[in-house]
Amino acid sequence: MSSSRPALRNDLLLRALCSQPTPRTPLWMMRQAGRYLPEYRTTRARAGSFLKLCMNPELACEVTLQPLERYRLDAAILFSDILTIPHAMNLGLEFEAGEGPKLDRPVRTAADVAALPTLDPEGELRYVMDAVRLIRRELAGQVPLIGFAGSPWTVGTYCVEGGSSKTFSHIKAMLYGDPRLLHSLLERLTRATIDYLNAQVEAGAQALMVFDTWGGALTPAAYAEFSLAYMQQIASAVRREADGRRVPLVLFTKGAGATTFAALARTGADALGVDWTTDLAEARRLVGPGIALQGNLDPSVLYAPPAAIRTEVARVLASYGRGHGHVFNLGHGIHPDVPPEHAAAMIEAVHELSPAYHE
Ligand code: CP3
Repeated sequence: MSSSRPALRNDLLLRALCSQPTPRTPLWMMRQAGRYLPEYRTTRARAGSFLKLCMNPELACEVTLQPLERYRLDAAILFSDILTIPHAMNLGLEFEAGEGPKLDRPVRTAADVAALPTLDPEGELRYVMDAVRLIRRELAGQVPLIGFAGSPWTVGTYCVEGGSSKTFSHIKAMLYGDPRLLHSLLERLTRATIDYLNAQVEAGAQALMVFDTWGGALTPAAYAEFSLAYMQQIASAVRREADGRRVPLVLFTKGAGATTFAALARTGADALGVDWTTDLAEARRLVGPGIALQGNLDPSVLYAPPAAIRTEVARVLASYGRGHGHVFNLGHGIHPDVPPEHAAAMIEAVHELSPAYHE
């Protein structure tokens, strides 16, 4: 029962995402449980594959907690993937080593869209909710747990392309040639995503993030119509309160331009993710007060030695500047070949350098 859950000992992330005062800048890393950690690789080998790891709540919980055992991080993020929804919709998901995701049965026609099943998050996706419940129990109030999903547009690119793509040829042919068909797919994905995120909150997620990794591949007009509009529906429909506390929502469009930030700020999200191609000072000006920002160290900075990492951390903190509402993060997921000590250098630098911005 939620009432028997232990109090949250470190709530810096939840405060910062709600633009409330904190004594320092909280931080976590996108893909913090991942291949750069040797202990992750060991657990994944035990699971047999990435997908089996996602689908085993005990092992998913184990890898979720691994980065917290190593580092002073202020959040856990559910170990899962944005492609659990197409997987549960029977599109035949596989991850081939070094090749990324593949979907055997891409969605290309009206009949394909009509055949998509309605999901029950406590049915086909129960393993995700079981992982959330287990992680909450194991965290025992140490730090908050972030739940997540992909944006309908981003998940849609995988559904229509049948995997990763550089050109987005199938989905863009659909977008320009048969926009109503694409809207019908995005509507189905949006409904599933809202139910999925609400179930994660019900199971114990304390903050939510929507990854719009491929929103930056769209023109401003297409972005507004095919990505933003559906994230807006999500922002309006997801549960934003649990255990008497706000469940903040973060929207992250990778490659977002100036017009995108201003529009995202009006969706009612609490915070926006920022990649490394936008200066935080500029993003802060575009979104105005009351919307927090999360980011935005270039993940490739972690290839450099610790002294250079510290310089770049200082630059990111200075670019946000004084005041609250900044959650330090990378501008995208940590690369698999980064030395774990370099992540440690980044984390120590945030702990040491950020209090000065909150005095
Ligand atoms: O941040 C975290 O630690 C939580 C876990 C998480 C994963 N994927 C684990 C993962 C999250 C939040 C995601 C989201 C995700 N998945 C996105 C959006 C964010 C982003 O990175 O842009 C996307 C586009 C996906 C789809 C996906 N999953 C791809 C394209 C790949 C293959 C590319 C790669 O990095 O190998 C994955 C696999 C994946 N998801 C891994 C992890 C740790 C690597 C799998 C492995 O262990 O081999």
